[in-house]
Amino acid sequence: MKSIVIRQPNALVIEERDIPQPATGEVRVKVKLAGICGSDSHIYRGHNPFAKYPRVIGHEFFGVIDAVGEGVNPARLGERVSVDPVISCGHCYPCSVGKPNVCTSLVVLGVHRDGGFSEYAAVPAHNAWRIPDSIEDKHAVMVEPFTIAANVTGQAKPTEQDVALIYGAGPMGLVTVQALKGVYRVKQVIVVDHIPERLVMAERSGADLTINNSAQSLQAVLDEKGIKPTLIVDAACHPSILQEAVNLASPAARIVLMGFSNEPSSLAQQGITGKELTLYSSRLNANKFPVVIDWMEKGLIDPDKLITHVMDYRHVTDAIERFEKDRLHCCKVLLIFAE
Ligand code: NAI
Repeated sequence: MKSIVIRQPNALVIEERDIPQPATGEVRVKVKLAGICGSDSHIYRGHNPFAKYPRVIGHEFFGVIDAVGEGVNPARLGERVSVDPVISCGHCYPCSVGKPNVCTSLVVLGVHRDGGFSEYAAVPAHNAWRIPDSIEDKHAVMVEPFTIAANVTGQAKPTEQDVALIYGAGPMGLVTVQALKGVYRVKQVIVVDHIPERLVMAERSGADLTINNSAQSLQAVLDEKGIKPTLIVDAACHPSILQEAVNLASPAARIVLMGFSNEPSSLAQQGITGKELTLYSSRLNANKFPVVIDWMEKGLIDPDKLITHVMDYRHVTDAIERFEKDRLHCCKVLLIFAE
């Protein structure tokens, strides 16, 4: 089989490898589609602190079960599945409180262990989630990015009364907008970004108001409109945003952080305690595959609004470069591994 391997930073090869045999408790997935995420590019460029090389990247993937290991029901052969990349131990403290996404021995497919940019991948059977026939392939491969939004909303518990402010109209901001509007019917969703083309995508995903904060002061626009956000999601992830979010937030608001920067955010406690704000962080997803599959079945979210490119996996280098450089027009790039 062919696998897309990052041998070391900036060295991507399409390598011939043996087709894996599923171990006990595993299934083998014949991969049909995979999605490119920022973290694939970070591993490629050597900017992901968790990655070990060589690595088959890819943690957003969909395919069909074509072999099962010992202990797995053979009735699963032929099942269409999307794969949850989060592999957890099931018994440490975070796992025991429903947070396998921060398991003390967390393994993420495509980061710590070989992932889905490959013609075949062996994965734990319980990570392979059955996709109902009503969900088409190119939507099924988008389950994983929407689980990031499901995790954010699982923390912040949006309501119809919320006025939400989303920093960043990249893929993560857009999936969050869709969840807030489509699933939670949040009254007003405001998106702020530096890139006008991305703000257009945010409107397409349901944003009620967009603000370009390279052209206008966000604070001035919100003040002029009398808006105090009750829920703020930082999907832009610059360390300076947290202090601004604290300043902008309504009393009793919730703020959700998604960033992994190791630069400090300067912050005065008074701003947080004075308004009794709640700060959440959100990493990957905690058992959110069934949640998002349900959203898709009910038509509450529309993955098509994010997919801008579908390319053959043999053009992966071009695909990743386009994803990295063309931030105006490129959002989600899918790679086809098999029809
Ligand atoms: P992206 O880079 O495509 O999008 C980020 C957007 O934020 C860009 O459109 C950029 O113009 C905008 N932006 C940057 N600084 C801004 C500022 N000060 N104000 C307003 N907009 C600003 O990235 P993507 O894929 O959407 O991911 C966003 C972030 O989420 C990344 O930092 C990534 O590491 C993080 N992430 C976190 C996950 C988690 O589970 N916590 C999962 C996936 C991504």
